[in-house]
Amino acid sequence: MNLFDLTGKRALVTGSSRGIGRAVAEGLLEAGAQVVINGVNDRLFKTAQELAASTGCTVIPVQADLSQREENKRLFAESLDKLGGLDILVVNHGIQRSHPAEAFPIEDWDTVLEVDLTSLFMLDQLGGQHMLTHGGGKIINVASLLSVIGGTTVPAYAAAKGGVAQLTKALSNEWAGRGVTVNAIVPGFIHTDLTEDLVHDPGEGARLLARIPVGRWGIPDDLKGIAVFLASAASNYVSGAIIPVDGGFLAR
Ligand SMILES: NC(=O)c1ccc[n+]([C@@H]2O[C@H](COP(=O)([O-])OP(=O)(O)OC[C@H]3O[C@@H](n4cnc5c(N)ncnc54)[C@H](O)[C@@H]3O)[C@@H](O)[C@H]2O)c1
Repeated sequence: MNLFDLTGKRALVTGSSRGIGRAVAEGLLEAGAQVVINGVNDRLFKTAQELAASTGCTVIPVQADLSQREENKRLFAESLDKLGGLDILVVNHGIQRSHPAEAFPIEDWDTVLEVDLTSLFMLDQLGGQHMLTHGGGKIINVASLLSVIGGTTVPAYAAAKGGVAQLTKALSNEWAGRGVTVNAIVPGFIHTDLTEDLVHDPGEGARLLARIPVGRWGIPDDLKGIAVFLASAASNYVSGAIIPVDGGFLAR
């Protein structure tokens, strides 16, 4: 038996038109799962074509703006409908806003909390409701180093991602005994569109790089292995875990 085989499993990965979510979706497809990918703009459809070409699998795109509560419900319902059920839920979408804390606009606070925490709770809850009554499943939340450390100028993101880590534990406590494991991945500094400016910043970017024991920025493909592990039977006794994939950054 291949512990990591996902043949016959059905997955939804949010925020997977690019970056980490796209790589996670590709990893699940390569392991045999059927996957719904999601994004907020038309780039999603190009990504679906590219992933279908690279993996030889059918890829199902469902566009939805997850800052809108009704859109979370529609994405989940359409995914269930198109897949005929759901075994794996990866809540990966996320945004960031940066301002000094003393000048942080309340509108940006509301937007970040809505997209990064409230939407994640809604989707986890919908996933849990389905999986608890349909033979179990795997919920994987994408947290952040800012779930652990506070950072600077991103107080809303730190509060939301801290919440993601705590919510992951809370849901695991209620659901793991009923067949639904809930875990979170903590990506380190991963080179994506979200971090493009920071990677090339000669000051802060260089300082961060010097603190990463593995000696390089991460790439989205670095998240594939942990996602397949947490989605598969290999992790059946892992729940409530907040797992760094950070090149050793947090241990330093
Ligand atoms: N890149 C990093 O270094 C890093 C580090 C820690 C955590 N993370 C987290 O990993 C996740 C992915 O980050 P990334 O670097 O790949 O970011 P990214 O900006 O490259 O991709 C974000 C994805 O989320 C989607 N998205 C954004 N707002 C959305 C909305 N309202 N509705 C639907 N989809 C929406 C985008 O379409 C995109 O597919 C995020 O939750 C982020 O906070 C990233």
